[in-house]
Amino acid sequence: MSSNKQKTVLVAGGAGYIGTHTTVELIEAGYEVVIADNLSNADLSAVRGVEQIVGRSVPFVEVDCCDTEALRSRVFERYAFDSVIHFAAYKAVGESVAEPLKYFRNNLDSLLSVLSLMQEFDVHNLVFSSSATVYGQPEQLPATELTPRQRANSPYGLTKQMSEDIIQDTVAAIPFLRAIALRYFNPIGAHPSALIGELPKGVPNNLVPFITQTAAGVRKELAVFGDDYDTPDGSCLRDYIDVVDLARAHVVAVGRMVAATAEKREDRERYEIFNIGTGTPVSVLELVHRFEEVNGVSVPHRLAERRPGDVEKIWAATDKANNELGWRAERNLGDTLRAAWAWEKRVRGL
Ligand code: UD1
Repeated sequence: MSSNKQKTVLVAGGAGYIGTHTTVELIEAGYEVVIADNLSNADLSAVRGVEQIVGRSVPFVEVDCCDTEALRSRVFERYAFDSVIHFAAYKAVGESVAEPLKYFRNNLDSLLSVLSLMQEFDVHNLVFSSSATVYGQPEQLPATELTPRQRANSPYGLTKQMSEDIIQDTVAAIPFLRAIALRYFNPIGAHPSALIGELPKGVPNNLVPFITQTAAGVRKELAVFGDDYDTPDGSCLRDYIDVVDLARAHVVAVGRMVAATAEKREDRERYEIFNIGTGTPVSVLELVHRFEEVNGVSVPHRLAERRPGDVEKIWAATDKANNELGWRAERNLGDTLRAAWAWEKRVRGL
């Protein structure tokens, strides 16, 4: 194998929000990337945005990762990978409550398909996109990687917990396999070029796309879900992580496993978990006000009922990611919110 081939990364679900940003960071770090995506919640224009940023074409295969046969013949038989980053999953919490089987089928099948092909083709390293949702409402904050997981409050959250467990058991059974699960806190923002960003279909479920669409006049007003939580201003506390910082965490995770495999590091656990957040809690109201302040736009909002299923407060302990992974969040919240607004304006032609 050529050295380039040894560094080829399959980004499954790579046309989505976090996948596109990660692809850019991988290519800028010198990796070859192949994107596989069924475009069920993404658009080919996102891949074009990636290509514009990196200044060259990026191999893209339109394929459903649940379709093991197609993934084998059109992706694994055509390229030699040593790492896979697995993003291909549904992510709407509310929809998962209404259609649990759709979530179990898709999110677990796509993972099983990727894992079985990694075994078959001797692909060594997996990064999995997990979520802070696996913690539920922790009793102690910040949440560390050792904070006990709680029963998931949605089928979506359950697929993240189950996926982590499936990966752990599979790694235990296959000696050449290594995996890192990254537990994302709340990813927000966009690439500073404004060429890629979050493109929710329909009414956004997540806070920042709702804020940017409200500022753009697409939505009349933002409902702030809950003003009577046990927090300084009564709204929920979250840990908002810039998507470019988050993307870099995947690059570092791949590099860690590639090095561990090359150096035959038997002292290191082959399955590891890292929180990816800033470590700083920010309230919903603070975030809205900061967005208005840094962008000089107003975001009409009203206080509303709590949203069922929301946790009151959660933020990350980042020591493990800082010290062992050698990664930390670098972008400040103001820049992140400016990038989110620049992206929305570009999408809307404002
Ligand atoms: C949710 C999911 C998380 C998932 C993440 C993806 C749960 C409980 N949450 O996180 O698993 O990984 O999305 O980004 O599984 N808010 C408003 N008004 C709005 C929208 C949101 O006030 O219109 C508030 C929410 O109440 C919450 C905060 O903003 O306090 C963040 O909400 P959101 O962006 O939806 O993320 P989470 O619910 O934290």
